[in-house]
Amino acid sequence: SDPNYVNIVEVGPRDGLQNENAVIPPALKAELITRLGRAGMKMIEAGSFVSPKWVPQMEGTDEVLRQMEHLQGVHYPVLVPNMKGLDALLALLSTENPPVSRPQHAAPPLPPAPPLTDEIALFTAATDAFCQANTNCTVAESLARLAPVAARARASGLRVRGYVSVVVVCPYTGRVRAEEVRDVARALLDMGCYEVSLGDTVGAGTPADIRALLETVMGGAQGVGPAQLAVRMLVGSGHFHDTYGAGVANMFAALELGLRTFDASVGGLGGCPYSPGATGNVATEDVLYALRGHGGGAGGARRYSAAGDLDALAEIGAWISGRLGRRNESRAGKAIMAW
Ligand code: HMG
Ligand code: MG
Repeated sequence: SDPNYVNIVEVGPRDGLQNENAVIPPALKAELITRLGRAGMKMIEAGSFVSPKWVPQMEGTDEVLRQMEHLQGVHYPVLVPNMKGLDALLALLSTENPPVSRPQHAAPPLPPAPPLTDEIALFTAATDAFCQANTNCTVAESLARLAPVAARARASGLRVRGYVSVVVVCPYTGRVRAEEVRDVARALLDMGCYEVSLGDTVGAGTPADIRALLETVMGGAQGVGPAQLAVRMLVGSGHFHDTYGAGVANMFAALELGLRTFDASVGGLGGCPYSPGATGNVATEDVLYALRGHGGGAGGARRYSAAGDLDALAEIGAWISGRLGRRNESRAGKAIMAW
């Protein structure tokens, strides 16, 4: 496989929409996910099975999973904070199949329909203060709470991804030590997460911060052989909120250290309900443009490849921003739409 292929995890329908003031109907969320799938995204977070008292915006994720189009080979992870969330998801999966259109006359018989989702994402943080604000428990308590959730999810055939929040700065306690991030990331991998996404929740990190962080989390910059590089590429994802505009630069710092997975949000949607002032993730359109350029614009030599139709994504970013009555935060998206 291409060592310069970059996986993009589209988090707009979850990280983006969880932060909107208005309650968004499941049909609109489902339409957003359907469009993102048709635009070629391979991983699309579809929502969360969290407490509606804590995050009312994510209520109805079961409805979203039922209504959206499911494409073969595309993963649609949902966030799960505890066993109650996994119970709800497994109950849904045992009773529902996705709405895929299948020609009844086709022979030989078609394989069984894929499940509504095959993946969950667990989340914790590098500091107790953020973890308390987000999930009402300490980091140690959250890891103890999540381990049986990961085990049961895996036993039920689900893939499990993990998140560590506040990997650079915590809105409550300030700068975070990279060793704390490393230990929490290891704990998530040990409980069976196939990948840990490193969340710069506040979006205050710079390329130098990300380099220093990864050198600690990934075990030092010296003597990086191909095997170690492969390990780095497999287990880590960058989840950079773009509050200070350094998201794309941070991605390139991480690319140079071997990371090949990044979370991004169409139109730059989003924020975090427990990180005041933080804006959305780095925009999917901006990430794709920086990686690959664009046929119609100034983009030239291509070092990296990634899935996704940039023109279609620019349209989706403009469309969803309009539907939500918010500003389109993607620079590349706006430029492409103006072309
Ligand atoms: P709690 O209040 O300690 O939990 O919240 P509890 O067990 O005492 O339950 C309280 C109520 O919630 C009960 O209802 C439960 O039944 C219900 P009541 O008896 O009062 O009617 N409840 C649930 N309902 C539905 N689904 C569930 C569930 N669990 C309990 N799963 C809890 C603890 C973890 C539940 C809560 O704090 C919570 O849901 N937090 C989620 C916060 C969240 O979603 N944050 C945003 C996602 S993380 C993020 O954005 C960061 C990320 O993007 C990376 C980055 O940028 O850093 C991933
Ligand atoms: Mg986030």
